[in-house]
Amino acid sequence: MKKMIGFIAILTIILTVAFFSDTDTTAQPSENELPVVGVLQLTSHPALDLIYEGIVDALNEAGYVDGETMILDFQNAQGDQSNLNSMSTRFVSRDADVMVGIATPSAQSLANASSQIPIVLGAVTDPEASNLVASNEEPGGNITGVSDETPIQEQFELIQEILPEAKSIGILYSSSEDNSIVQGEKAAEIAKEMGFETITMTVSSTNDVSQIGSALASQVDAIWVPTDNTVASAMNTLVEAADAEGIPIIPAVDTMVEQGGLATVGLNQYELGKLTGEMTAAILDGKIDPATTPIQYLEQGDIFVNPEKAEELGIILPQQMMEQATIID
Ligand code: TRP
Repeated sequence: MKKMIGFIAILTIILTVAFFSDTDTTAQPSENELPVVGVLQLTSHPALDLIYEGIVDALNEAGYVDGETMILDFQNAQGDQSNLNSMSTRFVSRDADVMVGIATPSAQSLANASSQIPIVLGAVTDPEASNLVASNEEPGGNITGVSDETPIQEQFELIQEILPEAKSIGILYSSSEDNSIVQGEKAAEIAKEMGFETITMTVSSTNDVSQIGSALASQVDAIWVPTDNTVASAMNTLVEAADAEGIPIIPAVDTMVEQGGLATVGLNQYELGKLTGEMTAAILDGKIDPATTPIQYLEQGDIFVNPEKAEELGIILPQQMMEQATIID
Protein backbone atom coordinates (compact mmCIF):
# COMPACT_ATOMS: atom_id res chain seq x y z
CA MET A 1 0.00 0.00 0.00
CA LYS A 2 2.81 2.39 0.95
CA LYS A 3 4.45 1.63 -2.33
CA MET A 4 1.21 2.43 -4.11
CA ILE A 5 0.85 5.80 -2.38
CA GLY A 6 4.45 6.61 -3.15
CA PHE A 7 3.90 5.73 -6.79
CA ILE A 8 0.77 7.88 -7.02
CA ALA A 9 2.57 10.79 -5.36
CA ILE A 10 5.42 10.59 -7.85
CA LEU A 11 3.01 10.25 -10.75
CA THR A 12 1.12 13.32 -9.52
CA ILE A 13 4.34 15.35 -9.36
CA ILE A 14 5.31 14.25 -12.87
CA LEU A 15 1.89 15.07 -14.28
CA THR A 16 1.79 18.44 -12.49
CA VAL A 17 5.20 19.43 -13.80
CA ALA A 18 4.23 18.27 -17.27
CA PHE A 19 0.94 20.20 -17.13
CA PHE A 20 2.49 23.47 -16.00
CA SER A 21 5.45 23.34 -18.31
CA ASP A 22 3.05 22.76 -21.19
CA THR A 23 0.84 25.72 -20.34
CA ASP A 24 3.68 27.98 -19.25
CA THR A 25 3.16 31.01 -21.51
CA THR A 26 6.78 32.11 -21.21
CA ALA A 27 8.01 28.86 -22.71
CA GLN A 28 9.59 29.42 -26.15
CA PRO A 29 9.10 26.90 -28.91
CA SER A 30 12.44 25.56 -30.03
CA GLU A 31 13.96 27.13 -33.17
CA ASN A 32 12.93 24.30 -35.45
CA GLU A 33 9.26 24.63 -34.50
CA LEU A 34 9.11 28.26 -35.59
CA PRO A 35 7.57 29.04 -38.96
CA VAL A 36 10.18 29.91 -41.59
CA VAL A 37 9.53 32.97 -43.76
CA GLY A 38 11.84 33.22 -46.78
CA VAL A 39 12.04 36.70 -48.30
CA LEU A 40 13.77 37.07 -51.65
CA GLN A 41 14.61 40.61 -52.76
CA LEU A 42 15.84 41.08 -56.33
CA THR A 43 18.39 43.79 -55.61
CA SER A 44 18.93 46.88 -53.51
CA HIS A 45 17.39 50.07 -54.80
CA PRO A 46 15.56 52.57 -52.61
CA ALA A 47 12.01 51.36 -53.46
CA LEU A 48 12.69 47.68 -52.83
CA ASP A 49 14.51 48.50 -49.59
CA LEU A 50 11.44 50.42 -48.37
CA ILE A 51 9.15 47.56 -49.36
CA TYR A 52 11.24 45.14 -47.33
CA GLU A 53 11.09 47.48 -44.32
CA GLY A 54 7.30 47.57 -44.57
CA ILE A 55 7.12 43.76 -44.77
CA VAL A 56 9.16 43.29 -41.61
CA ASP A 57 7.19 45.96 -39.71
CA ALA A 58 3.83 44.42 -40.64
CA LEU A 59 5.02 40.94 -39.65
CA ASN A 60 6.22 42.28 -36.29
CA GLU A 61 2.90 44.07 -35.74
CA ALA A 62 1.10 40.79 -36.43
CA GLY A 63 3.22 39.08 -33.76
CA TYR A 64 5.87 37.52 -36.01
CA VAL A 65 9.27 38.52 -34.70
CA ASP A 66 12.49 37.06 -36.08
CA GLY A 67 14.11 34.59 -33.70
CA GLU A 68 11.13 34.64 -31.32
CA THR A 69 8.00 33.67 -33.20
CA MET A 70 9.36 33.09 -36.71
CA ILE A 71 12.62 32.57 -38.53
CA LEU A 72 13.10 35.27 -41.13
CA ASP A 73 15.41 34.09 -43.88
CA PHE A 74 16.14 37.24 -45.90
CA GLN A 75 18.10 36.94 -49.13
CA ASN A 76 19.14 39.70 -51.54
CA ALA A 77 20.08 38.39 -55.00
CA GLN A 78 22.05 41.55 -55.96
CA GLY A 79 20.30 41.51 -59.33
CA ASP A 80 21.78 38.16 -60.31
CA GLN A 81 19.66 35.42 -61.88
CA SER A 82 21.75 32.51 -60.61
CA ASN A 83 21.52 33.93 -57.08
CA LEU A 84 17.73 34.09 -57.51
CA ASN A 85 17.63 30.43 -58.49
CA SER A 86 19.87 29.14 -55.71
CA MET A 87 18.18 31.24 -53.03
CA SER A 88 14.74 30.02 -54.13
CA THR A 89 15.92 26.42 -54.00
CA ARG A 90 17.37 27.02 -50.54
CA PHE A 91 13.97 28.18 -49.22
CA VAL A 92 12.26 25.12 -50.68
CA SER A 93 14.83 22.68 -49.32
CA ARG A 94 14.57 24.15 -45.84
CA ASP A 95 10.81 23.73 -46.16
CA ALA A 96 9.82 27.38 -45.70
CA ASP A 97 6.25 27.95 -44.53
CA VAL A 98 5.78 30.94 -46.79
CA MET A 99 8.00 32.72 -49.34
CA VAL A 100 7.86 36.39 -50.28
CA GLY A 101 9.20 37.68 -53.60
CA ILE A 102 10.09 41.37 -53.76
CA ALA A 103 9.86 42.42 -57.45
CA THR A 104 8.77 40.36 -60.45
CA PRO A 105 12.01 38.46 -61.26
CA SER A 106 12.27 37.22 -57.64
CA ALA A 107 8.65 36.13 -57.62
CA GLN A 108 9.12 34.29 -60.92
CA SER A 109 12.13 32.47 -59.52
CA LEU A 110 10.19 31.42 -56.39
CA ALA A 111 7.29 30.28 -58.53
CA ASN A 112 9.64 28.10 -60.57
CA ALA A 113 10.99 26.54 -57.39
CA SER A 114 7.64 25.53 -55.83
CA SER A 115 4.00 25.14 -56.74
CA GLN A 116 3.15 24.04 -53.17
CA ILE A 117 4.62 26.53 -50.68
CA PRO A 118 2.51 29.71 -50.44
CA ILE A 119 4.18 32.68 -52.17
CA VAL A 120 3.36 36.34 -51.48
CA LEU A 121 4.15 38.88 -54.19
CA GLY A 122 5.75 42.06 -52.92
CA ALA A 123 5.09 44.81 -55.46
CA VAL A 124 4.76 42.76 -58.63
CA THR A 125 3.25 45.11 -61.20
CA ASP A 126 1.09 42.64 -63.08
CA PRO A 127 1.13 39.07 -61.71
CA GLU A 128 -1.19 37.80 -64.45
CA ALA A 129 0.81 39.26 -67.32
CA SER A 130 3.97 37.88 -65.70
CA ASN A 131 2.46 34.35 -65.71
CA LEU A 132 2.46 34.08 -61.93
CA VAL A 133 -1.29 33.63 -61.41
CA ALA A 134 -4.22 32.41 -63.50
CA SER A 135 -5.88 35.79 -63.01
CA ASN A 136 -5.33 38.80 -60.76
CA GLU A 137 -8.87 38.43 -59.39
CA GLU A 138 -8.64 34.70 -58.73
CA PRO A 139 -5.02 33.54 -58.57
CA GLY A 140 -5.93 29.83 -58.45
CA GLY A 141 -2.65 28.40 -57.12
CA ASN A 142 -0.09 28.93 -54.35
CA ILE A 143 0.52 32.61 -55.18
CA THR A 144 -1.15 35.89 -54.22
CA GLY A 145 0.09 39.30 -53.11
CA VAL A 146 0.40 43.00 -53.82
CA SER A 147 0.66 44.87 -57.11
CA ASP A 148 2.41 48.23 -57.36
CA GLU A 149 0.62 49.22 -60.55
CA THR A 150 1.00 53.01 -60.80
CA PRO A 151 -1.37 55.65 -62.22
CA ILE A 152 0.32 56.05 -65.62
CA GLN A 153 -2.44 58.27 -67.01
CA GLU A 154 -1.99 60.71 -64.12
CA GLN A 155 1.77 60.70 -64.67
CA PHE A 156 1.30 61.77 -68.28
CA GLU A 157 -1.22 64.43 -67.21
CA LEU A 158 1.49 65.71 -64.90
CA ILE A 159 3.85 65.96 -67.89
CA GLN A 160 1.20 68.02 -69.72
CA GLU A 161 0.79 70.36 -66.76
CA ILE A 162 4.49 70.89 -66.14
CA LEU A 163 5.62 70.90 -69.77
CA PRO A 164 2.70 72.15 -71.87
CA GLU A 165 5.02 72.46 -74.88
CA ALA A 166 6.27 68.87 -74.73
CA LYS A 167 5.43 66.82 -77.83
CA SER A 168 7.70 63.84 -77.78
CA ILE A 169 8.16 61.52 -74.79
CA GLY A 170 10.88 58.91 -74.45
CA ILE A 171 10.00 55.64 -72.74
CA LEU A 172 12.89 53.66 -71.31
CA TYR A 173 12.96 50.26 -69.63
CA SER A 174 14.62 46.87 -69.44
CA SER A 175 13.54 44.34 -72.05
CA SER A 176 14.19 41.53 -69.55
CA GLU A 177 11.59 42.66 -67.00
CA ASP A 178 8.01 41.53 -67.64
CA ASN A 179 6.78 44.17 -65.19
CA SER A 180 8.29 46.90 -67.38
CA ILE A 181 7.12 45.53 -70.71
CA VAL A 182 3.49 45.70 -69.52
CA GLN A 183 3.92 49.23 -68.23
CA GLY A 184 5.90 50.44 -71.23
CA GLU A 185 3.25 49.24 -73.67
CA LYS A 186 0.44 50.75 -71.61
CA ALA A 187 2.30 54.05 -71.32
CA ALA A 188 2.87 54.26 -75.08
CA GLU A 189 -0.84 53.74 -75.67
CA ILE A 190 -1.91 56.31 -73.10
CA ALA A 191 0.63 58.85 -74.39
CA LYS A 192 -0.60 58.44 -77.96
CA GLU A 193 -4.21 58.88 -76.91
CA MET A 194 -3.19 62.11 -75.20
CA GLY A 195 -1.56 63.37 -78.39
CA PHE A 196 2.11 62.76 -77.59
CA GLU A 197 4.60 61.13 -79.90
CA THR A 198 6.62 58.43 -78.19
CA ILE A 199 9.99 56.82 -78.71
CA THR A 200 10.56 53.59 -76.78
CA MET A 201 14.06 52.29 -76.10
CA THR A 202 15.06 49.30 -74.02
CA VAL A 203 18.20 48.33 -72.14
CA SER A 204 19.32 44.80 -71.39
CA SER A 205 21.32 45.64 -68.27
CA THR A 206 22.45 48.58 -66.15
CA ASN A 207 25.54 48.81 -68.39
CA ASP A 208 23.38 50.12 -71.27
CA VAL A 209 21.65 52.87 -69.34
CA SER A 210 24.20 55.62 -69.97
CA GLN A 211 24.49 55.18 -73.73
CA ILE A 212 20.83 54.44 -74.46
CA GLY A 213 19.70 57.10 -72.01
CA SER A 214 21.79 59.70 -73.88
CA ALA A 215 20.52 58.57 -77.26
CA LEU A 216 16.92 58.80 -76.06
CA ALA A 217 17.37 62.14 -74.28
CA SER A 218 18.74 63.71 -77.46
CA GLN A 219 15.49 62.93 -79.33
CA VAL A 220 12.69 63.79 -76.91
CA ASP A 221 11.26 66.55 -74.68
CA ALA A 222 10.95 64.37 -71.57
CA ILE A 223 11.63 60.79 -70.50
CA TRP A 224 9.14 58.57 -68.66
CA VAL A 225 10.30 55.41 -66.90
CA PRO A 226 8.17 52.66 -65.31
CA THR A 227 8.92 50.86 -62.03
CA ASP A 228 11.80 49.08 -63.71
CA ASN A 229 14.37 47.50 -61.41
CA THR A 230 17.25 47.87 -63.84
CA VAL A 231 16.62 51.59 -64.37
CA ALA A 232 15.98 52.13 -60.64
CA SER A 233 19.36 50.52 -59.96
CA ALA A 234 21.08 52.85 -62.42
CA MET A 235 18.89 55.91 -61.96
CA ASN A 236 21.87 58.17 -61.20
CA THR A 237 23.40 57.23 -64.54
CA LEU A 238 20.17 57.96 -66.38
CA VAL A 239 19.83 61.30 -64.59
CA GLU A 240 23.35 62.27 -65.68
CA ALA A 241 22.58 61.37 -69.29
CA ALA A 242 19.29 63.30 -69.27
CA ASP A 243 20.82 66.30 -67.48
CA ALA A 244 23.47 66.53 -70.17
CA GLU A 245 20.66 67.09 -72.71
CA GLY A 246 18.62 69.28 -70.32
CA ILE A 247 15.75 66.76 -70.38
CA PRO A 248 13.53 66.04 -67.36
CA ILE A 249 12.62 62.51 -66.23
CA ILE A 250 9.12 61.69 -65.03
CA PRO A 251 9.43 58.31 -63.32
CA ALA A 252 6.60 56.11 -62.05
CA VAL A 253 7.67 56.28 -58.42
CA ASP A 254 8.72 58.87 -55.83
CA THR A 255 11.97 57.09 -54.92
CA MET A 256 13.14 57.78 -58.47
CA VAL A 257 12.20 61.45 -58.06
CA GLU A 258 14.45 61.41 -55.01
CA GLN A 259 17.18 59.91 -57.18
CA GLY A 260 16.97 62.88 -59.59
CA GLY A 261 13.64 62.62 -61.42
CA LEU A 262 11.51 65.77 -61.75
CA ALA A 263 8.04 64.75 -60.50
CA THR A 264 5.53 61.94 -60.35
CA VAL A 265 2.20 60.69 -59.11
CA GLY A 266 3.28 57.61 -57.24
CA LEU A 267 2.42 55.04 -54.61
CA ASN A 268 3.91 54.83 -51.14
CA GLN A 269 6.47 52.03 -51.36
CA TYR A 270 6.59 51.43 -47.61
CA GLU A 271 2.79 50.96 -47.58
CA LEU A 272 3.11 48.39 -50.39
CA GLY A 273 5.50 46.52 -48.11
CA LYS A 274 3.13 46.77 -45.15
CA LEU A 275 0.31 45.28 -47.19
CA THR A 276 2.62 42.47 -48.35
CA GLY A 277 3.64 41.74 -44.75
CA GLU A 278 0.00 41.71 -43.61
CA MET A 279 -0.87 39.14 -46.28
CA THR A 280 2.14 37.04 -45.28
CA ALA A 281 0.99 37.03 -41.63
CA ALA A 282 -2.55 36.14 -42.69
CA ILE A 283 -1.21 33.12 -44.58
CA LEU A 284 0.88 32.02 -41.58
CA ASP A 285 -2.26 32.38 -39.43
CA GLY A 286 -4.19 30.21 -41.87
CA LYS A 287 -6.66 33.05 -42.47
CA ILE A 288 -6.31 33.30 -46.24
CA ASP A 289 -5.72 30.87 -49.06
CA PRO A 290 -3.61 32.24 -51.95
CA ALA A 291 -5.77 30.45 -54.54
CA THR A 292 -8.86 32.48 -53.63
CA THR A 293 -7.27 35.74 -52.46
CA PRO A 294 -7.23 38.42 -55.19
CA ILE A 295 -4.15 40.52 -55.88
CA GLN A 296 -4.30 43.68 -53.74
CA TYR A 297 -3.78 47.24 -54.99
CA LEU A 298 -3.03 50.59 -53.34
CA GLU A 299 -5.46 53.11 -54.75
CA GLN A 300 -4.01 56.38 -53.54
CA GLY A 301 -1.23 58.00 -55.60
CA ASP A 302 0.41 61.21 -54.35
CA ILE A 303 2.17 63.98 -56.27
CA PHE A 304 5.88 64.35 -55.61
CA VAL A 305 8.06 67.13 -57.02
CA ASN A 306 11.77 67.88 -56.94
CA PRO A 307 12.05 71.71 -57.11
CA GLU A 308 15.84 71.63 -57.09
CA LYS A 309 15.85 69.54 -60.27
CA ALA A 310 13.24 71.87 -61.78
CA GLU A 311 15.46 74.85 -61.12
CA GLU A 312 18.51 73.11 -62.54
CA LEU A 313 16.58 72.41 -65.75
CA GLY A 314 14.97 75.87 -65.85
CA ILE A 315 11.48 74.44 -65.47
CA ILE A 316 8.80 76.33 -63.55
CA LEU A 317 6.53 74.04 -61.54
CA PRO A 318 2.91 75.31 -61.45
CA GLN A 319 2.15 77.02 -58.12
CA GLN A 320 -1.03 74.98 -57.61
CA MET A 321 0.92 71.74 -58.05
CA MET A 322 3.56 72.87 -55.55
CA GLU A 323 0.82 73.47 -52.98
CA GLN A 324 -0.62 69.96 -53.32
CA ALA A 325 2.62 68.07 -53.75
CA THR A 326 5.07 66.47 -51.39
CA ILE A 327 8.34 68.31 -51.91
CA ILE A 328 11.45 66.18 -52.35
CA ASP A 329 14.78 67.85 -51.77
N1 TRP B 1 7.18 46.72 -59.86
C1 TRP B 1 8.50 46.15 -59.82
C2 TRP B 1 8.40 44.70 -60.27
O1 TRP B 1 7.33 44.18 -60.51
C3 TRP B 1 9.10 46.23 -58.45
C4 TRP B 1 9.14 47.62 -57.93
C5 TRP B 1 8.36 48.13 -56.93
C6 TRP B 1 9.96 48.68 -58.41
N2 TRP B 1 8.66 49.44 -56.74
C7 TRP B 1 9.60 49.82 -57.63
C8 TRP B 1 10.90 48.83 -59.44
C9 TRP B 1 10.20 51.06 -57.85
C10 TRP B 1 11.49 50.06 -59.65
C11 TRP B 1 11.15 51.18 -58.86
O2 TRP B 1 9.40 44.06 -60.39
